[in-house]
Order: sequence, then structure tokens, then C-alpha cells
Amino acid sequence: MSEPRLIDPFARAITYLRVSVTDRCDFRCVYCMAENMEFLPKAELLTLEELDRLCTAFVALGVEKLRITGGEPLVRKGIMTFFRAMSRHLATGALKELTLTTNGSQLRRFAGELRDCGVRRVNVSLDTLDATKFRAVTRWGRFAQVMDGIDAAVEAGLKVKINAVALKGVNDDEIHDMVAWCGARGHDLTFIEVMPMGDIGGEDRLDQYYSLKELRRDLEARWTLTDTPERTGGPARYVRVGETGGRIGFITPLTHNFCESCNRVRLTCTGQLYMCLGQEDDADLRAPLRAHPGDDAPLVEAIRRAIERKPRGHDFDYSRRTVEGQVSRHMSHTGG
Ligand code: GTP
Ligand code: 5AD
Ligand code: SF4
Repeated sequence: MSEPRLIDPFARAITYLRVSVTDRCDFRCVYCMAENMEFLPKAELLTLEELDRLCTAFVALGVEKLRITGGEPLVRKGIMTFFRAMSRHLATGALKELTLTTNGSQLRRFAGELRDCGVRRVNVSLDTLDATKFRAVTRWGRFAQVMDGIDAAVEAGLKVKINAVALKGVNDDEIHDMVAWCGARGHDLTFIEVMPMGDIGGEDRLDQYYSLKELRRDLEARWTLTDTPERTGGPARYVRVGETGGRIGFITPLTHNFCESCNRVRLTCTGQLYMCLGQEDDADLRAPLRAHPGDDAPLVEAIRRAIERKPRGHDFDYSRRTVEGQVSRHMSHTGG
């Protein structure tokens, strides 16, 4: 590596970059977006070349894991050009993992190409196995299309992890079905606590909130869960399910804060770097990028200054039966 690695003020090495390549999405999940979202004008977006330059700078600074997110990353025009470009960092060994988080709707079209670009694993957001509920949660999503996308990923040789946001009154009655379905198909399954991100048009987060402490207890009524130290580089803590041999992950920003081991920062599609998912502070990387087309030094300097501001963690808190620590931007802005 040509430059010293990125270390934040709490001695955490930053080795994981999440990159949102578009704020657009073909779904309108109720906890993620309002139905009438205003999207950014195209001119605001980083070009694919700019995204390449930025990500390449981070890789030179020690980032080993790149996760492409959105919005829905696979609706960004030309996105395979970008995946193809990033695969060169896998070839050199600088990058250990190139992956994405997707709603699955476009996987039939892109799974094979993703595999060719060195992607081995995809995380698919799927909160329910019930087509009617799926429509209610995603507003615009088509369940059959996502199922077909997941099949396509498997056929292409990609490992699929299912991400489900735990939602009271929505999928709390389906957790066993999801464990059985994922177990039978060999998918890891990760449950996520719902975070207060963005104005979602009147939905009450507290009513929806299903703590994973409670969810785990509910699962244990039916399944034998054994903690495992296995990690996938993200915040999930995993258990093995005795009956299926499958793995379940728990992402618990509310009940168990994992910020002390945070290794990641997030880049938006307009070149804003968020040092924490749960804080408002950001750093503009687009300005130094555009002001110095032939020289990365000012960009690298801006990245270093930003990492020096990385906060200890988020302030999400529902424990007083109020939503505290809410951040104003929608999840689609930073891609989770
Ligand atoms: P793996 O590589 O499979 O470990 O994935 P990951 O968990 O890093 O990525 P994924 O996109 O599947 O993340 C799932 C969700 O976990 C995200 O959408 C967020 O909701 C949540 N999450 C991930 N990282 C953080 C984080 O740093 N802080 C908080 N509060 N939540 C996070
Ligand atoms: N809280 C927790 N997870 C969320 N996601 C979207 N909005 C929220 C929220 N408010 C999840 C999606 C997807 C990932 C990108 O973020 O379900 O798995
Ligand atoms: Fe789209 Fe994902 Fe947000 Fe749903 S959660 S609206 S699929 S970006």
C-alpha cells in the first residue's frame, strides 16, 4: 500500500466503504422512503468515472471491502461498467470483497455479469415471504420478480444473504417461516432493528419496533440457536440453527450497540462522505475531486480530514418510548 491506512480517533481502522451509486429505487419501502420522493437531478450525481476515482483512492488508503448500495444500485445506468472497473482491485488483491445490497428486482438481468466481475455474495432485502404483504411494505415491488431474481443469483453461483427489517405487525408472525425457508435454501438470514432515518410520512417507528432481543426469544421457542463467532465484516452477530444448519444474523443498533467495532464509512451518490449512519455530519469529497481532475492529493487530504471527525457512534434510542437520535436523511441516501 502506498499510503498509511485510515485510522479514526477511536483507533478503528476504516477498511469497509459502502457506496450509494443512486438515490433512486424501483420500490418505495414504507420505512425507507416517502411515496412521493424527490430524487436528485442527474447532474448532481457523480459520474461512473468519478465513482471509480473515489473508490480507487479509498482502496489505496486500505479499504478492503466495497459494498455497492443505493437506492437500488442495479437501476443506475451503466452500473456494470463500474463493477467491471472495480474488479481490477480484486485482481491485484488490494480489495478482498466486492459486493452489493439490492432489492433483488434486477438480479435476473445482472447476476451472471456480477459473478463475472468477481462478486461472490449479494445481500437481498426481503422482509416477507407473503406476496400481498410484500406489496404493502415495498409499495411498488413485485414479489415474483424478486423471487426470480434470487433464483437467478443462485443459478449464477452467487451466495445470497437475506436481510429482513424486523417490523411488528408486519413480519413478526413470519419469522419462523423465514428461518425455515432460508435454512432449506441455504441462505443466511439477517434480521435488522428498524432505525429512525428520514421522515417516512407518519408511520410510527415505535409501533413498528420489534427488538431483536424479543425476536431472538421468540425464535428460541421453536429453534435451537447457538452463538457463533463467525463474522462477515459487517455488524451482524450470528447464530447457527440446529434444525436447519443455517445461519441467522442479528443487526442490533438499538438493543446492542456495535459502534465500538465500526470499520466503515459511507459515500453518497453525490460524493458526500458520512462517517456514521446515525449522525448528520458529512464531508464533501466531490469538490476536491472535481477541482483537481489530475491530482488525487487534495482528495486524499479531504478523506483523511473526514476520518479524523468520525464520531464514536450513533445516538438512536427508543428506550424512553420516544424516538431519539433520529437523523433527517432517508436510508436511501446512504444505502443502509
Ligand atoms: P455483510 O457483508 O453481509 O456483513 O453485510 P453488512 O451487514 O455490512 O451490509 P448490509 O448492506 O447487509 O447491511 C444491513 C443493514 O445493517 C444496513 O442496511 C443497515 O441497516 C445496517 N447497518 C450496516 N452497517 C451499519 C452501521 O454501521 N451502523 C448501523 N447503525 N447500522 C448498520
Ligand atoms: N431501519 C433499518 N433498516 C433499514 N433499511 C432501510 N431502511 C431502514 C431502517 N429505517 C434496510 C433495508 C435494506 C438495507 C439497505 O437497509 O431493508 O436491507
Ligand atoms: Fe428501495 Fe431498498 Fe429503500 Fe426499499 S429499502 S425503497 S428497496 S432503497
